Amino acid sequence: MTAPFRIAIAGLGTVGIGLVRILQTHPEMIAARAGRPVEIAAVSARSKDKDRGADLSAYAWEDDPVALAKRPDIDLFVEVMGGHEGAAREATEAALKAGHHVVTANKALLAHHGNAIAAAAEEAGVALRFEAAVAGGIPVIKALTEGLAGNEIRRVLGVMNGTCNYILTKMEETGQGYNALFEECARLGYLEADPNLDVGGIDAGHKLSLLAAIAFGTAVDFDAVELEGIQSITLEDIRQAADMGYKIKLLGVAQMTGRGLEQRMSPCLVPDTSPLGQLDGGTNMVVIEGDAVGQIVLRGAGAGAGPTASAVLGDIIDVARGFRLPAFGQPAASLRKVRAARAAVPAPYYLRMALADKPGALAKIAACLGEAGISIDRMRQYGHQEGVAPVLIVTHKTTRSALDEAVAAFSDTGVLEGTPVAIRIENV
Ligand code: HSE
Repeated sequence: MTAPFRIAIAGLGTVGIGLVRILQTHPEMIAARAGRPVEIAAVSARSKDKDRGADLSAYAWEDDPVALAKRPDIDLFVEVMGGHEGAAREATEAALKAGHHVVTANKALLAHHGNAIAAAAEEAGVALRFEAAVAGGIPVIKALTEGLAGNEIRRVLGVMNGTCNYILTKMEETGQGYNALFEECARLGYLEADPNLDVGGIDAGHKLSLLAAIAFGTAVDFDAVELEGIQSITLEDIRQAADMGYKIKLLGVAQMTGRGLEQRMSPCLVPDTSPLGQLDGGTNMVVIEGDAVGQIVLRGAGAGAGPTASAVLGDIIDVARGFRLPAFGQPAASLRKVRAARAAVPAPYYLRMALADKPGALAKIAACLGEAGISIDRMRQYGHQEGVAPVLIVTHKTTRSALDEAVAAFSDTGVLEGTPVAIRIENV
């Protein structure tokens, strides 16, 4: 029998314990697929005594994840602690330095330090894998780096934060507002320790930056992701969007344009009949468009013990089989540094605002749009109340900068009440 492939697991939360459970449940199946038994040699977490509902007595215990990462009796280090600095970063770097393969679920770490960590792995001659970092159980990294490697990727887009999709879907289904559903997510344990990572679009932005690097052969550039969260989405916008045949989704889009790489994570209107429009609840969806293959749609659980551990274990088995691939599908030194293009691709926009209900008010707003070169596609006034007229405008295709110019000019008209809402309508 070939020697066992020995792993260490840093982090015994939902994902770490999920991984332990699968390894304990299916050892023969995993050994057959990996070509050798996969064994847990040692583990580490914050508290040794906590009851985690799994038998960990056969594994060596380390209090310090960095010491765990350096153990000479392991082949591969699994990092499922999270956080982009501190212990997660130090332990990952220590494991690579010690010549151990690394499998991580840590999107924040790779979004911030992925270029250097990928280079360190190559220098050490070991594998760095991160399937679980993007869209949980969906094998999207494998799809991009392997199955679709022969394609020039045109666009990658998707819903990559289940918590935000849950909130937006429930707002429409139940008529509850954002704040009530945020509280529900907190009670259900859906939110990251820092909830702004979810609702501010940061967690999904981390994931998008990793997909963009693979798709376009570019260095990871999370700082260039335009981020907008879902906190200001109202029931009114959800209702108006539904009335026009759209759903509002926190949508990530990455595409190469003539002006550079566009990466944005923001609420968008998508047709309710599209696969993205029909994605309900906490599920994720990634859509990949390649020049040869056309459009591929991947859908599945983006979080949770089983799906995330499934992705981690897929990576471990690949490494145990002897499969080696640069982390981002090509050598780290060959990843191009490209310019960031801010929302370069024109799109129609949904604009909702409240105007003073007096003669000429609408004409002033229409003039601002005209002066910014923006043409109106559809418009309606509805539900006048106490001298205020809610107005909804759908524009023809325009750029975000032209739209920002027009919206800035609205403020000088003297007819605007409150702040206008502008949401991009994405062609999906
Ligand atoms: N908080 C994430 C989500 C899961 O809601 O999708 C892990 O990235």
